[in-house]
Order: sequence, then C-alpha cells, then structure tokens
Amino acid sequence: MESVASAPGKTILFGEHSVVYSEPAIAGAVNKRATVKIRRSRNQNTILKSKDLNFEAILDTRKESYSLKHGKPGIIRYILNALSKFHDHTPIEILLSINIPIGSGLGSSAAVTVATLAALFDYHDIPFTKESLAQDAYNVELDVQGMASPLDTIVSTYGGLIYLSREKKPISFTNHINSNFVIGFTTKYGNTGKMVKNVKNLKDAYPNIINPIIEDMGFIANEARIAILKNDISKVGELMNINQGLLDSLGVNTSELSRMIYLARKNGALGSKITGSGGGGSIIALCPHNPDKVMKAINRYDNTLKIKFSKDGVLTKD
Ligand code: PMV
Repeated sequence: MESVASAPGKTILFGEHSVVYSEPAIAGAVNKRATVKIRRSRNQNTILKSKDLNFEAILDTRKESYSLKHGKPGIIRYILNALSKFHDHTPIEILLSINIPIGSGLGSSAAVTVATLAALFDYHDIPFTKESLAQDAYNVELDVQGMASPLDTIVSTYGGLIYLSREKKPISFTNHINSNFVIGFTTKYGNTGKMVKNVKNLKDAYPNIINPIIEDMGFIANEARIAILKNDISKVGELMNINQGLLDSLGVNTSELSRMIYLARKNGALGSKITGSGGGGSIIALCPHNPDKVMKAINRYDNTLKIKFSKDGVLTKD
C-alpha cells in the first residue's frame, strides 16, 4: 500500500511578524505544492528521497537522526519530527516532490510538514480533521523552529485565502481579488527564527514604539479584509504599501528587497511588500494588469514567479 498527500505553499499578504503577537493576518495558499508518498520499505532502512531537492537520506526514527547519501536539505528535521510523533518505527520509504522554492518565504517547510503528516495518518489509518492536522503540523514547526505562529500550517492545511483572527481562529473567505501576484526572490534565504528574534529584541528594547507598530499591522489586516471582500483592489495595494513601511521600521527589510519593492511599484504594481520574515526571502507585488512587466523589471537571475491564490489545501489519496 502507498499513501500520498500533498499540501500547498503559502504567501502572507498582511501580518507577518505581528501575527506572532496574536494580531490578525491574511495569507493564502499558492499553486505550488509539496507531495509526500509513503510506502513500506523494501529493506530494513527508512529512506527519504527527493529528486527535486536532490537528496537521499537514511533516517533513524528512534534517535531522530539521519545519515545523508547526498544533498543537504534543512527540511529533513521537519519530517523526522513528524515521524517521531506519529510513526511506529517500521521501515518505510518516503518520497518527497516539491515545486515550492525552499527558504523563500513561500512556506515550503509547512507544506512538507502538513503533507508528511497527512500521508502518515493515511498510512497508519489514523483519523484526523483539518483542525487537528493544522495543530499537529504547528507542533512540529514549533519543535523544529522554536518561535512560530500557526499561520503557515493553517494555510497549508485549509488552502484558500485565510484571515487568522486574534483568537487564532482561521476564517476562510472568498477571494475577490482573483488577481495575479508576482513573487520576487532575493539571493538570501530568509531565516525566520532569527528575524522573529530580532523583532522581539527590538520590541523589548523599545516597547512604547514597537508595540503600537505591531498593533497597527493588525489594523491594516482588518482593513485589508474588508477591502478584499469589497474587491477594492487599489485599497489592498495601498494597504500593502503601508504595511511595508511598518515592516521596514521593524528592521526586517534589506536593500535587495527594497530594490524589488520599488521597482515593482514603478512598473505598475498596485502594492508591493516583503512576504514572510524578511531579512532575505521574498517580496510580493499585486499586479492585476501587468505581471509580466513587473517580472521583467525586477528579474535579475530568474528570481521571479507569477502566482495565483489556490483554493486547494491538503489533499490525500491512497
Ligand atoms: O518566512 P516565513 O514565510 O516562514 O513567514 C514567517 C512569518 C512570521 O510572522 C515572521 C513568523 C511566523 O511564524 O508567523
């Protein structure tokens, strides 16, 4: 028997960093996915392989360790942690395919975690709901990363456009901005843990200044939710730009991100901002009319991607 599950990457439209402090946020699943296949191993080893990421490893699920045959993927820690929680240590083969760029702020780790858990639950006939799966995946991310919000794992599980309320309740809402977005990657991987810690240090050092900024980001997410529901696309863009100013003040911007953000606006994007933790990683630009022009303007080394939000969350099949 073979169990297969897939889950999408995500992009954050509003509320990165402030969501860590329970402010509301808006993020959506993208049309890029991670797919995990699990089957019984043909030998005594538990093997993890990914052609897309060019690695192969033998996993020791009891010791939560691994030896690599080749490659050096950070993603293994998420898979091992998921196995340590829900696998009975019998030898299995895990095949990972993924077309989400890694370390780019598109939620590749959450997608891999959600797909791994869903495939594992299917393999062991463990019943689950989207709510329980999102929670289990969040626990894996917390173990591996330290500080994290549940946003990535929720979006990867539910799919669609999600408004995450203060109470961490995911509310799916119809995406009235069925528009093209352009993602631009920098040369530097985003280090989410480090950036979250930097923001915390700033917040601790200047609470009177930083706390209102974080709260303002929550107000922006709430305004944006109304604008999206009214299909007021220029307002969505304007709010993205305001959000970007506040992200910059938190110290998560870089000159490379800034360059793309301003080039995108200059070439007709209605709004553009960092998506994800910043300090590297990527930007997102709202480009309803001219995604190709924006892509051409910010592209330096094949570092752009046109995306649309996708309604599909986690999917399983035997
Ligand atoms: O860099 P990403 O895509 O993993 O996004 C991180 C978003 C943060 O709000 C900075 C952290 C979090 O866990 O929500």
